[in-house]
Amino acid sequence: MHGKLRKNAGAKMSDAEIGLIGLGVMGANLALNIAEKGFKIAVFNRTTQVTKDFYANAGKLAANVVPCETMEALVGAIRAPRPIIIMTKAGEAVDQTIAALRPLLKGNDIIIDAGNANFRDTMRRFGELDGTGLTFIGMGVSGGEEGARHGPSIMAGGTQASFDRIAKVLHAISAKYKGESCAGYMGPNGAGHFVKTIHNGIEYADMQMISEIYGLMRDGLGMKAAEIAKVFGDWNKGRLNSYLIEISHKVLSVTDKKAKKPIVDIILDKAGQKGTGKWSVIEAQNFGVNASAIEAAVDARIMSSLKAEREKAEKAYKIPKKKLKVTSRAAFLKQLEGALYAGKIAAYAQGFAVMETASKEFNWNLPLGTIAAIWREGCIIRSQFLGEITKAFSKKGGNLLMAPAFAKMMQKDHTSLRAVVAQSALSGAPAPALANALSYFDGYRQSRGTANLIQAQRDFFGAHGFERIGEEGAHHGPWAMNAKHD
Ligand code: 6PG
Repeated sequence: MHGKLRKNAGAKMSDAEIGLIGLGVMGANLALNIAEKGFKIAVFNRTTQVTKDFYANAGKLAANVVPCETMEALVGAIRAPRPIIIMTKAGEAVDQTIAALRPLLKGNDIIIDAGNANFRDTMRRFGELDGTGLTFIGMGVSGGEEGARHGPSIMAGGTQASFDRIAKVLHAISAKYKGESCAGYMGPNGAGHFVKTIHNGIEYADMQMISEIYGLMRDGLGMKAAEIAKVFGDWNKGRLNSYLIEISHKVLSVTDKKAKKPIVDIILDKAGQKGTGKWSVIEAQNFGVNASAIEAAVDARIMSSLKAEREKAEKAYKIPKKKLKVTSRAAFLKQLEGALYAGKIAAYAQGFAVMETASKEFNWNLPLGTIAAIWREGCIIRSQFLGEITKAFSKKGGNLLMAPAFAKMMQKDHTSLRAVVAQSALSGAPAPALANALSYFDGYRQSRGTANLIQAQRDFFGAHGFERIGEEGAHHGPWAMNAKHD
């Protein structure tokens, strides 16, 4: 078989345990991970050369790889019932692949979409396959290239029975937290992709808040990249220990050979996005859940894209940049650490609240404790902090801000968040995710808010009614008789 690709189903042995379509970066690494864990895997890519190159570069692992030139050959190479992973670009490519696969598959085969699909597409695909005998799994995979190769965090949605059939492979290839697998069953139909979407929404907030803190150090304190790198390096040894802080430390330490400057200083300040952050916010709004810190992070990427406009506006407003007014840099750095921690608590509280509501809405019964647990390793937001969340959710659901351990932390650290947001506002340095995290906290812990006035306004102009304190039913104000029309 070496060097040759299977062209058709033929009479060759069907001995692969699993198949994979789409040998892009994530697909190729996932396939190697599967092969390395001792499972024979049949692989196919639309461009045959990609399959050939993948096979040629698989080294020892090639023994566990069956490279296929056609989808027929791929299907023929897998032992029935066949689990087939699709790892293509999310969207139309997935529908096309499913359409091409369907006539080749038989009842009980499992199609697994492992891309970053919109969970509403996943639910539609479930519906389309319903009654065909084929089963579908919508599976979120997090951890980037490295995670796919050596152990991602895996969030699977579908029937429990279809999950159980591939659980052995998933647990084998997933990341491990102190020996525990970071692959889990999230619930029916779109649950896995929904959880992955919220993972990414939280990822956006985490990254944005770290960037805001970086901005305050760079512009407010005038610190150099290497100095900021050191701060992140130190924080990574403490309670902020996480993959994103670790890589922030690393990227800030790298010098660009060409410019002979820190590489972050020559990277354009425009961030891309592929959609999962935006979907998190859209769904939060659909469910009526406040996810303002996540939303601010998505908006910040949009603002980042307006580079040319921002340059013009900076000139037009000529507002001199102010350094932060701090008496002690060391003390302010401590506040920044506290602010980041408190901001993180609020953003995670929002992400988990969105999941809790979606779970009720769709009857998913999302295992919030398990979700936090499988995010402790492998995924992009992995952190020590998720260990605390796992403990909080294994005790009780509800808003994270009310979990005793987090309430205790927030009680202390909200003062740092407040000081940092105030400083950023006074100096003119934007910190939208941190500011929204603070407003969320302040709004959440305020028993008497200001929506009474909104209700009065709504009733005045639209007779929408309001509730009186301590009384049942809808009431109206005496606006009409008091209103003066001149
Ligand atoms: C992960 C990442 C991964 C990908 C994001 C990036 O969990 O491994 O989140 O899914 O890097 O989709 O998203 P943006 O391109 O939208 O930043």
